[in-house]
Amino acid sequence: MSGYQGPMRVLSGIQTSGGMHLGNYLGAIRKFVDLQHEHECLYFLADMHSITVWQEPEKLRAQTFHIAAAYLAAGVDPNIATIFHQSAVRAHAQLAWIFNCVARLGWLDRMTQFKDKAGKDAERASVGLYTYPVLQAADILVYKATHVPVGQDQKQHLELSRDIAGKFNHDFNAPDFFPLPEPLIKGPGAKIMSLRDGSKKMSKSDPSENACIFLRDDADAIARKIKKAKTDPEPLPSEEKGLEDRPEAANLVGIYAALTGKSNAEVLAEFGGQGFGAFKPALADLVVDKIAPIGNEMRRLEADHAYLQSVLDGGAERAAAIADPVVKEVKDIVGFVA
Ligand code: AMP
Ligand code: TRP
Repeated sequence: MSGYQGPMRVLSGIQTSGGMHLGNYLGAIRKFVDLQHEHECLYFLADMHSITVWQEPEKLRAQTFHIAAAYLAAGVDPNIATIFHQSAVRAHAQLAWIFNCVARLGWLDRMTQFKDKAGKDAERASVGLYTYPVLQAADILVYKATHVPVGQDQKQHLELSRDIAGKFNHDFNAPDFFPLPEPLIKGPGAKIMSLRDGSKKMSKSDPSENACIFLRDDADAIARKIKKAKTDPEPLPSEEKGLEDRPEAANLVGIYAALTGKSNAEVLAEFGGQGFGAFKPALADLVVDKIAPIGNEMRRLEADHAYLQSVLDGGAERAAAIADPVVKEVKDIVGFVA
């Protein structure tokens, strides 16, 4: 057990590659919005993580503004939470190097996301992709963040962050210097699946254009994608048990539940016995109702780079004011001359 005594602090980030989608919203951004009212929160744009795979420079810049707009449009308030881009706060890279010397090769060898992203030809992956989870640990611990809201797919990276924090505290005889950060994963929406394949998570890189609902999709696109969503011929069951072995049906019910704040059981009490011909239009109306206004606001914000830049600059300054003193302490602990 950690005996860390510092304040509770929430931190999370999203990579600035590809469009924001319903999975990002339900698994991450919506939690960011809820948490900001209860705790000190830092939310950043992980542009340094993005370049672990090739990014066109101009696209990377646009994507960074895109994610910033998604945070704000979804309701993250820059006057309450600190919003910034990772590359603007040098402390992330500084701590990441030190953590590269704390983390063990064997730990990184076990990371499933690296294996997925590197594919068959791992020899050709960037070194950055391999050490990606070490930078992630630095992102979190440079603020001594205690809680990290993320989707299910980040569980293993959070465990690695805890391992790095624990090993640093132990090796340098600095008990409880770093907290062991807790993932906040639970809750509806932690794993939204592809609309075309209930065994794959919804992902911006899905080759099928109907698999993923993007936050900037207009009402017609949202309705079309839901209409085309893969299902089975059975009507919806009346009880949750009936969703077992029906991953596509379970996913659509889960999306409905996550967006209404109801449980799966409550959704099935309402729609059990009805076919997808009735359920899909109700789901499409709901998604349009909740997501289209966010998309509209994103479009407005994305046209105003000057405003977004000012939000990020202000956030980066606040973030650095927390992180720089932590790096200073770490350098001293490690034995660097001041
Ligand atoms: P990424 O776009 O991979 O950088 O993910 C950003 C955040 O969204 C992370 O917290 C992920 O865990 C979360 N996320 C990504 N895809 C999904 C999904 N299909 N369902 C739920 N959460 C997701
Ligand atoms: N790896 C995360 C993702 O793909 C993004 C991320 C980078 C992150 N650094 C982080 C999330 C720190 C939480 C905390 O979603």
